[in-house]
Amino acid sequence: MTAIIAARSRNNVIGRNGMIPWRIKGEQKQFRELTTGNTVIMGRRTYEEIGHPLPDRMNIIVSGTMVLDGENIVSARSLGEALEKAEKYAPGRDIYIAGGYGLFREALPIADKLFLTEVDIVIDDGDTFFPEFDRDDYILTVGETVGGDISYTRTCYTRKK
Ligand SMILES: NC(=O)c1ccc[n+]([C@@H]2O[C@H](COP(=O)([O-])OP(=O)(O)OC[C@H]3O[C@@H](n4cnc5c(N)ncnc54)[C@H](OP(=O)(O)O)[C@@H]3O)[C@@H](O)[C@H]2O)c1
Repeated sequence: MTAIIAARSRNNVIGRNGMIPWRIKGEQKQFRELTTGNTVIMGRRTYEEIGHPLPDRMNIIVSGTMVLDGENIVSARSLGEALEKAEKYAPGRDIYIAGGYGLFREALPIADKLFLTEVDIVIDDGDTFFPEFDRDDYILTVGETVGGDISYTRTCYTRKK
């Protein structure tokens, strides 16, 4: 299974100044649970924001400039090469595309599922957005809403057969 995993604001923002523009305690739990034991593919800027390979999963960083080759991290020069390396280094594991914008857009046609966390906030000065997609291509499942200073709702879009 190949999935996209992202969190976006009410106005579709995913990033600002190289960072995620909100911090919500516990919000990243789903990301950790889904991706642990599997493979995460991310762009070079997203990787630099995190600053280290995520533990207990294969990390594949897409970059034309950075070369990485470690115990649980490798670089790839394209999404296609990243998908090939996912099968080589973690055969049969689920693959999660974790951003940013370009990889989300490129992966939309091949992703079976989109795990989108809808964050109840409007970010006026965002600079990175989740790409447009056709909702009619998917079945939407709405999961839990978690309250707090900033509430959020889990959703999953599953591609229609
Ligand atoms: N809210 C969320 O769920 C979420 C998730 C992820 C990221 N973000 C946010 O999004 C922002 C970062 O995203 P971004 O879109 O600016 O950058 P990004 O996709 O993380 O990184 C862009 C870089 O990745 C490499 N890359 C991406 N696609 C490639 C391709 N097809 N072929 C070769 N190289 C490719 C290039 O690296 P080189 O320049 O090295 O060639 C490119 O400059 C940050 O603000 C981050 O916090 C939010």
